[in-house]
Amino acid sequence: MDTAKVRVSSVKISLAVLPLLLLLLWPPVAANWMYLGVVGVTPLLPQGDQEAQNLSTSSAVSICQHLPGLVQQQVAVCQDHPDAIKSVSAGARRGITECQYQFRHERWNCTTTHEDPDVPFGHIIKRGSKETAFIYAITSAGVVHAVTQACSSGNLTDCYCDMSKQGLSTPEGWKWGGCSDNLNFGNQFARQFVDAPEKEWHKKEKKFRNLMNLHNNEAGRQERKSELVHIHSSPNYCKSKPKKGILGTSGRQCNKTSSGPDSCSFLCCGRGYNTKAVKYIERCHCKFVWCCRVECKNCVTKVDVHTCK
Ligand SMILES: *[C@@H]1O[C@H](CO)[C@@H](O)[C@H](O)[C@H]1NC(C)=O
Ligand SMILES: *[C@@H]1O[C@H](CO)[C@@H](O)[C@H](O)[C@H]1NC(C)=O
Ligand SMILES: *[C@@H]1O[C@H](CO)[C@@H](O)[C@H](O)[C@H]1NC(C)=O
Ligand SMILES: *[C@@H]1O[C@H](CO)[C@@H](O)[C@H](O)[C@H]1NC(C)=O
Repeated sequence: MDTAKVRVSSVKISLAVLPLLLLLLWPPVAANWMYLGVVGVTPLLPQGDQEAQNLSTSSAVSICQHLPGLVQQQVAVCQDHPDAIKSVSAGARRGITECQYQFRHERWNCTTTHEDPDVPFGHIIKRGSKETAFIYAITSAGVVHAVTQACSSGNLTDCYCDMSKQGLSTPEGWKWGGCSDNLNFGNQFARQFVDAPEKEWHKKEKKFRNLMNLHNNEAGRQERKSELVHIHSSPNYCKSKPKKGILGTSGRQCNKTSSGPDSCSFLCCGRGYNTKAVKYIERCHCKFVWCCRVECKNCVTKVDVHTCK
């Protein structure tokens, strides 16, 4: 009888915090490490647990095991360098920001989603298209930069390749190579951490897709984005297809005078666009008044803003 009662109340509790519990206790194996860049590290640690919140004092084991979806080797790398996990997150974040900047005028604009740790860029990441290739390269490069920078600014306690680990063989067969400077450490770290799931899954499933990801991770680290490879064609990203992670371009701002990808004809995919006059108030006709202030008038500027239907 007692167990039944306990069970009933625990069901109530777990319904209330189900999403959190799912995230923390049963991390989906397929979760993508890039999710750390979408949400940051802190929200993924147990809430209210001061120990685990404080990355400098809590145990590496606790931090690394609470992050969702890391494969075995990623947990191992995380435990060896727990203070670098913030750089992993910051690096992925930087990659995402750069991606969104570079694609800001395109039909696909590198949107991320918090909702599903498996697919931080939406389901579009399941397709081996050139957009996915770019995502892997830019986030991998972001981790190299962030870890290297953290090393150079003295934020990581052990910015060297641990020679004692050389020759260490794990089920994944990884080894630390020798390395002498911060960039080498950043590269080596990213190779061990970012590539780990692809190597593991390729070992299990022999999917060409994982080799594609590995290639693009490396091209990103080496700053050779022209060498990215993809195996699937891209959809046109015009219409919203939520199940496929495509938002569509409806509502996007387009440029009536541009002949590039942000032109209204291309971005709106021939559906046409709405025009709205937007007023901006700016300071203008500023005068220097002796002595010492500047007096300005307010000027109203009208701009036509076009958005895709
Ligand atoms: C985390 O731990 C360090 C070292 O003990 C301490 O200086 C710092 O104040 C702690 N930060 C928080 C937020 O508890
Ligand atoms: C180094 O750590 C400080 C304090 O936590 C932080 O403000 C700074 O952004 C870090 N720098 C890098 C490059 O990680
Ligand atoms: C990307 O496009 C979607 C609609 O397709 C829009 O909702 C979103 O704000 C855009 N994101 C950025 C970063 O511009
Ligand atoms: C629209 O495109 C033209 C031509 O490329 C450019 O000069 C202009 O600055 C763009 N306008 C906006 C609002 O981006």
